[in-house]
Amino acid sequence: MSEPKILILGAPGAGKGTQSDRIAETFDVEHVTTGDALRANKEMDIGYLDLKYDTPGEYMDRGELVPDEVVNEIVKTALDDADGYVLDGYPRNLDQAEYLDEITDLDVVLYLEVSEEELLQRLTGRRVDPETGENYHVEFDMPDDEDVRERLVQREDDTEDVARERIRVYEDNTAPVVERYEESGELVRIDGERPPDGVWEDVRATIEEAS
Ligand code: AP5
Repeated sequence: MSEPKILILGAPGAGKGTQSDRIAETFDVEHVTTGDALRANKEMDIGYLDLKYDTPGEYMDRGELVPDEVVNEIVKTALDDADGYVLDGYPRNLDQAEYLDEITDLDVVLYLEVSEEELLQRLTGRRVDPETGENYHVEFDMPDDEDVRERLVQREDDTEDVARERIRVYEDNTAPVVERYEESGELVRIDGERPPDGVWEDVRATIEEAS
């Protein structure tokens, strides 16, 4: 396998973004993330689709899924442009999983397992540097630079109420996607409830084995 096509699954806060950054750098593939793509287009006018809300941001700030019509298009364009990739944040329901089957073949499907208590602690403690997009955590991982510390912000969907709703939406919509890949024999479970370096050892070994 020259340029691996990797899917990374996991609940909100499981560490998909953290591990995907390392995968992209080490295996020289694109990091395709629907969350970042949608955050960059939160105010995009989707009123012409005549859906519940007129912008992606209105779904995201409530912890709801952005409609498939919007997200499928973003993913198709990104995958068409990439030889190898790590796909993070998609598919989030069974319809999206079927669509993904139609547009690409996967080499590796990773699933980061983390308990709900730990997910909530990670999400509510996450802080983002608005200048670089880098993620930090108020307890586990704060920047040394005081200027950076002072400019950190909390994502609008990382408040406790919205984080709980995101986990509920995940259980309803995305847990069946995990089952689907388990049943097809593609899923590799990884214990995500360890420090990032420990998780990374297993992630890297799994991808190397499949290569
Ligand atoms: P998205 O941005 O994809 O959010 P998410 O899936 O909820 O994932 P997160 O980014 O919150 O978590 P992560 O697993 O990447 O963890 P991270 O590495 O950052 O989606 C946001 C919204 O967009 C959705 O709610 C929805 O509205 C919309 N959307 C996106 N995709 C969509 C789709 N396909 N269809 C419809 N709507 C869609 O880590 C979290 C924190 O934990 C950080 O602070 C990090 O420093 C820390 N951390 C990470 N790993 C560890 C570790 N091992 N130990 C300790 N701390 C750790």
